Amino acid sequence: MAVLVTGGLGYIGSHTAVALIEKGIKVVICDDLSNSDINALDRIFKITNVRPKFHKTDLKDYKKTELIFKRNSIDAVIHFAGYKAVGESVEKPVMYYENNLLSTLNLLKAMKKFNVKNFVFSSSATVYKVSDIMPLKENFPLAQTNPYGRSKYFIEEILHDVCISDKNMNVAALRYFNPIGAHKSGLLGENPNGIPNNLMPFITKVAIGKFDKLKVFGNDYPTKDGTGVRDYIHVLDLAKGHICALEKLKEKPGFFVCNLGTGKGYSVLEIVKEFEKQSGVEIPYEITKRRPGDIAECYADCEKAEKELGFKAEYSLADMCRDSWNFQKNNPEGYKSVQ
Ligand code: UFG
Repeated sequence: MAVLVTGGLGYIGSHTAVALIEKGIKVVICDDLSNSDINALDRIFKITNVRPKFHKTDLKDYKKTELIFKRNSIDAVIHFAGYKAVGESVEKPVMYYENNLLSTLNLLKAMKKFNVKNFVFSSSATVYKVSDIMPLKENFPLAQTNPYGRSKYFIEEILHDVCISDKNMNVAALRYFNPIGAHKSGLLGENPNGIPNNLMPFITKVAIGKFDKLKVFGNDYPTKDGTGVRDYIHVLDLAKGHICALEKLKEKPGFFVCNLGTGKGYSVLEIVKEFEKQSGVEIPYEITKRRPGDIAECYADCEKAEKELGFKAEYSLADMCRDSWNFQKNNPEGYKSVQ
């Protein structure tokens, strides 16, 4: 019996694969390598001494998706694979909906055929309606501002319908806040193609000299220092959250939604300051105008995760900054760097 990790060579997927292997769980990875690197597989091996079976598969192809289930005895799926750039999704909505929805539908079809009943889904805090009331609870209203976020929302709804139609089906939709940090070994971390969209990978690229300075998108928000506040969670905590979710599915909860965050909000300038402290590298920055679509504050209510999953994030912001830097420093060229 094995857990299929789709997108298992990506940032969160690879860390979760390691966490599963360390729990003695057999892992099968599929990834189309569109936003990940095959070298991550060697890195997983270096950390765990286990080389998971790997399928280079585009899940939009149903026949190929089915083959993974034919060739392996899968008893649960953790579905990370998906496009995730907010800006790109606004430019190319059809591509986003096609990729994110079709891959999920194909997985669900194959799961039905092979009688696989446990599914953990990578959802996002971006499904919540913009709100002045924080922290965000799972029962707050939902509304999205871009096709990426809407694809996550649509998939949650589809999964809910599937659970209504099939009482044996169990789904955990995990709404991630802002994952940062990297594996302690420095072998796995966030390795975006091209110019990073997100704050931490941009900061680490400034720190190794790939960019001159960080642009801070606005300092006129109604927050502690005017810059955007987010709930940053260590990717190792997030990986652990998936193990907790798999355990939860054994209780046969049907459709289950849960936030994965820390419940604490930090501003952009706080992140910059802590990163400088942990790395000893100065991060030059300039304040620019707000990024369209950004909100002032976003952080999680963690009560449900604690009560129902027994999950509590453990790593501090200092850990997150230190580990992000450790990965970047050891891998100036990402996974192309020799280890
Ligand atoms: N920021 C900058 N400069 C940058 C990048 C980001 O100032 O170069 C600021 C943003 O304005 C924001 C904060 O840093 O205040 C965090 O921005 P990120 O882009 O890192 O993260 P977001 O919160 O905007 O979005 C992330 C994911 C989305 C996901 C969302 C969930 O990228 O996929 O969290 O809330 F949907």
